[in-house]
Amino acid sequence: MFNKEIETKVTIHELIAARWSGRVYDSRKLLSREQIMALVEAARWAPSCFGDQPWRFIVFDKATNEAAWEKALTCLAEGNQSWAKDAPLLLLACADSVLSQNGKPNRWGQYDTGAASENLSLQATALGLMVHQMGGFDAEKTKTEFSIPEQFTPMAMMTVGYQLAEEVIPEDLKEREYNARARNTLDENFYEGCWGEPITEVL
Ligand SMILES: Cc1cc2nc3c(=O)[nH]c(=O)nc-3n(C[C@H](O)[C@H](O)[C@H](O)COP(=O)(O)O)c2cc1C
Repeated sequence: MFNKEIETKVTIHELIAARWSGRVYDSRKLLSREQIMALVEAARWAPSCFGDQPWRFIVFDKATNEAAWEKALTCLAEGNQSWAKDAPLLLLACADSVLSQNGKPNRWGQYDTGAASENLSLQATALGLMVHQMGGFDAEKTKTEFSIPEQFTPMAMMTVGYQLAEEVIPEDLKEREYNARARNTLDENFYEGCWGEPITEVL
């Protein structure tokens, strides 16, 4: 995928800087089983509270199970389906709401599942793949379609695949694909010492 310039106060790892959520996939470029296994292996090694590993991911590989992939695609909001249809791989990340070790509520399950999803996303980036996470999907429908137990919360669907070569990206999709990446300034979200006291570069 092509690189997007980002503005940072200090240099950050190139893998983190290189990840961004594109929408124009090359439907002809499939993923190998080895690549897919690398994605789930990366998610597997995420940290979790009590080491409970509350995440569950369902993989939908168009190349090997088109019916399941199709079913997953129809769970997405229409706006997401319009571009996700070209991604050869879909995933659904679910979080356990119960700690497996003692049956008590796990209030960190969603936090840990997010960490596993970011691990997966960075591994994909390292493999030259593009990932896009989506909250725009029908969670109840995924629960029914894929027999997800009640205690698990479907958190996000993801697309993974290769970005379409820049020279063949259709004109009408270019504007959104080339949108500049933006973030709040550091002082808005990062504090030091107490709530609301912005972290500063120079003490
Ligand atoms: C949990 C989650 C849900 C998201 N839902 C959607 C979505 O439904 N549709 C979409 O186009 N992008 C979705 N995004 C992508 C965000 O819009 C994107 O990550 C954000 O704008 C930052 O852009 P970047 O990932 O390129 O840095 C989602 C991202 C996350 C992490």
